[in-house]
Amino acid sequence: MDLLVDAHRATTRIAQVAYPFLAEGGLGADGTYIGSDVFSGGSFVYDPWVLYQSRVITNPNVLLAGVIGSGKSSTAKALITRSIALGHKAYIPCDPKGEWTSVTEAMGGTAIKLGPGLPARLNPLDSGRRPDAVASDEWDRIVWSRRRALLGTLAESTLGRPLAAIEHTALDLALETVCAQVPTPTIPDVVVALFKPDDRWAERVGLNASSLTTDGREVAHAIRRLVHGDLSGMFDGPSTTEFDPAAPMVSLDSSWIGSGGNDQALRLTLACASSWLEAAVADPAGGNRYIVYDEGWRVMRDPALLRRMQEQWKLSRAWGISNVLIVHRLSDLAAVGDLGSEARALAEGLLADCSTRIMLRQESDQLARTANLLGLTDVEIATIAKLPKGRALWRLPNRSFVVQLVRHVREVELFDTDGRM
Ligand SMILES: Nc1ncnc2c1ncn2[C@@H]1O[C@H](COP(=O)(O)OP(=O)(O)OP(=O)(O)O)[C@@H](O)[C@H]1O
Ligand SMILES: [Mg+2]
Repeated sequence: MDLLVDAHRATTRIAQVAYPFLAEGGLGADGTYIGSDVFSGGSFVYDPWVLYQSRVITNPNVLLAGVIGSGKSSTAKALITRSIALGHKAYIPCDPKGEWTSVTEAMGGTAIKLGPGLPARLNPLDSGRRPDAVASDEWDRIVWSRRRALLGTLAESTLGRPLAAIEHTALDLALETVCAQVPTPTIPDVVVALFKPDDRWAERVGLNASSLTTDGREVAHAIRRLVHGDLSGMFDGPSTTEFDPAAPMVSLDSSWIGSGGNDQALRLTLACASSWLEAAVADPAGGNRYIVYDEGWRVMRDPALLRRMQEQWKLSRAWGISNVLIVHRLSDLAAVGDLGSEARALAEGLLADCSTRIMLRQESDQLARTANLLGLTDVEIATIAKLPKGRALWRLPNRSFVVQLVRHVREVELFDTDGRM
């Protein structure tokens, strides 16, 4: 029997409108090779800056989630080490397992080991280099607010509560006092200024030094932990290492901070370490750079740290930075606070600020929530429930891909984390 309609020829680009079951064409060929697109069989290539420029994504940040051992770190390591060939750089301020050290060294980068008794010391109040594009008074403001934000975070995180208005004043004045005395203040300088406020500075806000001492007492004790407490010797003096802007990778290994449950110490360390690193990379002309927060969920339990991260993420877009946040499950974001709380809103803001979400296998009890937060289809949910190791759903606005990470034998060795078990 003859077909009654006339034959019609069209390109696949046109035909996919009429026949929507053709495989996705991929994200183009410009970027870093990740592996194979499971549905089309083609190569899958990704580059957040290229996609940001072509408006496929609205920001270059990446969220990676998956159960333990599903291949989150391997996926991030592959993306990053391979993109160094394109001239991108990568910084890893959050590496609580120390697994990025060998990767960083293999790429010719610098790995800094942080821990009590270790020789490296970083001054988190370092100003970093002023970028040419930033005027000096604007830079002063940026440096001031970064220092002030870090000190506030350290105090709030240790005290476990938001600072009172008067405590903010005490901290402001302490920082202003030391900044007027020395070009690069250290945390011990600020602690001294909190314990012994300067009369002239106190008068500026209509207080006297002794009442200011009382007001700032708790803040002083909270921050003192980094100077005399269990975290002393790491962030309480001038930096012993200079940041090398030419290095392709810099990682801060915090595996030496008792990883067994002392999450508070780890969080304070991460706050200081990332502040130091972020100060160093604050340069719009610094090229395309990834900042990786591996095991990010350990930091995210803390509203004070979340607030700092969010501020940093806002700035990083202007600096050409792609933040890569690695968590186990999306409910890590919800665990930070009750619905409607500030912490919860901050965490959800971070999620919204990641245009690319890479979902490795999720626990079955997490599927509904994941689907809800990311707006996944039933087919996508069924897919992520069954993903084998190294295979992920790459979810971009309005598009998604299932991608199998393909590793070179050298990478298999280099990225191995089972060996450490
Ligand atoms: N595509 C893959 N095929 C086979 N094995 C893989 C693949 N990707 C990763 N692995 C192996 O699985 C192990 C765990 O991977 P990885 O460390 O990347 O997981 P993770 O999700 O970061 O784990 P964790 O939650 O413990 O941090 C590694 O030893 C790695 O070599
Ligand atoms: Mg990992």
